[in-house]
Amino acid sequence: MAFFRTSNFSDPLAAIAGDGVTLRLPQMADYPEWAALRDASREFLKPWEPIWPVDDLTRSAFRRRIRRYSEDLRTDQGYAFLVVRNVDGALVGGLTLANIRRGVAQAASLGYWMGLPFTRRGHMTAAVSAVIPFAFSTLRLHRVEAACIPTNAGSMRLLEKTGFVREGYAREYLCINGIWQDHLLYARLAGVAGS
Ligand SMILES: CC(C)(COP(=O)(O)OP(=O)(O)OC[C@H]1O[C@@H](n2cnc3c(N)ncnc32)[C@H](O)[C@@H]1OP(=O)(O)O)[C@@H](O)C(=O)NCCC(=O)NCCS
Repeated sequence: MAFFRTSNFSDPLAAIAGDGVTLRLPQMADYPEWAALRDASREFLKPWEPIWPVDDLTRSAFRRRIRRYSEDLRTDQGYAFLVVRNVDGALVGGLTLANIRRGVAQAASLGYWMGLPFTRRGHMTAAVSAVIPFAFSTLRLHRVEAACIPTNAGSMRLLEKTGFVREGYAREYLCINGIWQDHLLYARLAGVAGS
């Protein structure tokens, strides 16, 4: 019989170092910078994300978000990181390993966003490349999945650059920007890139 580890971090989760960026857990002190960046990036992010609740950028919604992330981490259901630029500590975006499935799946779903002023500088390539060893070694996952809308050229290029392989096409897979939208399905398996 096979036994699969679930990760229970008794110590605070260490930050993950990437090329020019660091992935670290969000905290309440991040609220002003996070809200300002999300607000400035609203029109850019809107077509690719679920509809934002009306109070999404308020301090109390951020507090609930932090609580949910902590609970997900404690119960090994998900790992949400902020992406910070090393040169000046600026918050540039976010990345999440969500919907962790243990047992015979050992899989997670990858999500990410980059603040508009920081796009196309390689930051998300660095962040995804850094989270992959964490997913496969620290969390002992076997599979990291990602999905994107076929017109999302940036996301497709990012996934292909970081070793994800296109596996399929799912009709009306996620409700994005208020519409059930078809998605391309990508995955990366533990082991070599492009597997
Ligand atoms: C997708 C996203 C996270 C990429 O972040 P980023 O930090 O700009 O990505 P990188 O700078 O690491 O670029 C990765 C690759 O994608 C390419 N790319 C990025 N944005 C692009 C765009 N709008 N069109 C075409 N290619 C793009 C980059 O040129 C690079 O490829 P290259 O090295 O061959 O030139 C960012 O564009 C974003 O947040 N988009 C909106 C939200 C979103 O799409 N979320 C994911 C939903 S699935």
